Amino acid sequence: MHFTVEAQEKVKPFLVDGAVAVDGTAGNGFDTLFLAGCVGESGKVIAIDRQEQAIERTQQRLVVAGFSRRVESIVGDHADLESILSVRGVSCIDCAMFNLGYLPHGDKSVITQPESTLKALKAVERVLVPGGVVSILAYVGHPDGENEAGVVARWIGELGTSYAVERWSDEENPRSPILWILRKLDRSDPQGR
Ligand SMILES: C[S@@+](CC[C@H](N)C(=O)[O-])C[C@H]1O[C@@H](n2cnc3c(N)ncnc32)[C@H](O)[C@@H]1O
Repeated sequence: MHFTVEAQEKVKPFLVDGAVAVDGTAGNGFDTLFLAGCVGESGKVIAIDRQEQAIERTQQRLVVAGFSRRVESIVGDHADLESILSVRGVSCIDCAMFNLGYLPHGDKSVITQPESTLKALKAVERVLVPGGVVSILAYVGHPDGENEAGVVARWIGELGTSYAVERWSDEENPRSPILWILRKLDRSDPQGR
């Protein structure tokens, strides 16, 4: 299984035209591009990465696809997500994607950290609409990756019954990435979406 593709396939059914989505780790721009395609012309994607190089790569990809106008790409720390959204007048979002770790073909020393990841996830929890979806892909094969995955797992464990949680990993590989898909349940929807 290719976990990055799986993450996109799992969130896709919950994204409609006009949706607002956050890519918390823009990286090489693949998830941002995917989100921009899903939210349509009337939607909005806020893509964040600590590294200028990542944001440049993301923007290049968006220009080629003609999606630049629906994406705001920001060099910043996703730990500051709450203020990043509020200064833009965004009070609720439909989706957030986090592909943790380091920038492929980039500086491997710039890597997501448990504390900032947790801060970003808590901010998402506060602004995610009922029916909204979050994907988190964590890697345990790098220093502190296991710790980060543990922090994410504990936070998910404390979310309670208002979220539906799915978890995937390759059970035969102890170093397998872990993918979580969280859906905030909409109690007013008889189908529980
Ligand atoms: C695995 S890559 C993301 C891949 C990306 N989703 C894609 O589709 O290409 C992880 C990214 O997280 C970024 N990152 C690390 N710490 C961060 C932080 N605190 N805030 C925002 N981005 C961060 C890294 O710079 C790196 O580009």
